[in-house]
Amino acid sequence: MKIRFAPKPPSGVDAIAVFVEPGAQWQGPAAELDNKCQGQLRRACRVAKFKGSAAEVCEVLAPAGLDVSRVLIVGLGPLKDANPAVFENIGGTLCAHTMGSVDGALVVDTTGLESAAVDAADMPARIAFGARLRAYRFDRYRTERRKESQPTLAEIAFVTPRARACETRFKRLEAVAAGVFLTRDLVAEPPNVLYPKEFAQRLRQLTQHGIKVEVLGEKKLKQLGFGALLGVSQGSLFEPQVVICEYDGTGGRGKRAPIVLAGKGVTFDAGGINIKPTAGLETLKMDMGGAASVAGTLMTLALRKARCHVIGICGLVENMPSGSAQRPGDVVKTLSGKTVEVINTDAEGRLVLCDILWYAQERYKPRVIVDMATLTGAIVIALGQEYAGLFCNDGPLASQLIAAGERTGDRLWQYPMGEAYDKHLNSLIADMRNLGPNEGRSIIAAQFIKRFVQPGVAWAHVDFGGMVWAEQDTALSPQGATGFGVRLLDEWISTHHE
Ligand code: BES
Ligand code: MN
Ligand code: ZN
Repeated sequence: MKIRFAPKPPSGVDAIAVFVEPGAQWQGPAAELDNKCQGQLRRACRVAKFKGSAAEVCEVLAPAGLDVSRVLIVGLGPLKDANPAVFENIGGTLCAHTMGSVDGALVVDTTGLESAAVDAADMPARIAFGARLRAYRFDRYRTERRKESQPTLAEIAFVTPRARACETRFKRLEAVAAGVFLTRDLVAEPPNVLYPKEFAQRLRQLTQHGIKVEVLGEKKLKQLGFGALLGVSQGSLFEPQVVICEYDGTGGRGKRAPIVLAGKGVTFDAGGINIKPTAGLETLKMDMGGAASVAGTLMTLALRKARCHVIGICGLVENMPSGSAQRPGDVVKTLSGKTVEVINTDAEGRLVLCDILWYAQERYKPRVIVDMATLTGAIVIALGQEYAGLFCNDGPLASQLIAAGERTGDRLWQYPMGEAYDKHLNSLIADMRNLGPNEGRSIIAAQFIKRFVQPGVAWAHVDFGGMVWAEQDTALSPQGATGFGVRLLDEWISTHHE
């Protein structure tokens, strides 16, 4: 789908969208268009009980006297409370409405659209961004119905007097969309295709955007002593991989310690010997969503040439039951030297994270680490599909991330932590065990990871199992992989680390 910004509408378009604020007089393009068809638009809105609330759409087919097939009257909601997200949602909703019905081009007339709350050039760009995010499709494995189900909407042309400024804004947002799409693609890929080596291969492609990519294979991981990560992987036929991606947009001035983003990348989580029940097992291909969000974020940063220095590290393994699988009761030695009694082989994410976190700290001495992981089912029970859990050892970092989440819609809810939770991890025979009691499970999982955070490092852990996959279409994402995390991390880095 092409997106353009121009001061005048192109000719030969199939549909037009215009905007209306609730309770306000129709004005600008909406009023002009309505006059051209003798008030048919206003009549249609009355009949449809259209109020003009944000992202409400009234569609008028074959309007008399106009040479388009349809006009969409789009509600803005009260503009004084508007924010960028309101316009993104409008764009997403408009796209969902027109993708399969409009033939060719849709004109979105934003002439005269003003809001004291949002920058004027930002409004059309945000609408376009919302449309771009919503238009995402994952079609790789459709062979038969591919043609018929293709969207017919080929182009959205925004009419705006600020075309150049909008283009600049949109270019930056397109970098974000590209990162979100990489993450969605990776999460959507089936687990027989996207196993650890293939994931690493996809990450290698980031070198074309100026990212340095280094892959540690099984042999190297053994030499280095990634005992916890290797234990998770040992029941799988696929070789584990740890991938380190470095993006330095500081032009070599990146003398300051880099930021580390670490991602859990379990390409399929069968649970291991503590095998999961049948129901919903196919969804456990998304257990690499953390690693995918790290990949997408790096791509976005590189595409928009962000002035920051970021290390992304992904721990890629498959967690399978087999004759060579790790047993409940095994003791593994982590890279840090600490030993872990594996009580439950399905609590594998923390075993992957503890080693990659340790490696990243030893090698890069970061001041800040954010780890992204679909770590516990308990977080999904607690927060549903609305928030991810945030666990953090640093007040300012937590506030920054929560605020970035509110601005982007990748929302975070902070959990408490503390010694009283941590003590449940003590083991009879090793330094710790990988599972405590059921109560407070997500917090205890976070406490486990925290045991591998070195003194002086600000660390945040995002547990987002409920956010990685949408059961239903939303304004900005079709049903399926959401790309959660990319917008969050990009916004946080852009606000606090550039
Ligand atoms: N990856 C899962 C958590 C998960 C499951 C996230 C489903 C999102 C959807 C994790 O590795 C896991 O299996 N956690 C278990 C551990 C427990 C069985 C010891 C959990 O939290 O239920
Ligand atoms: Mn598991
Ligand atoms: Zn898992």
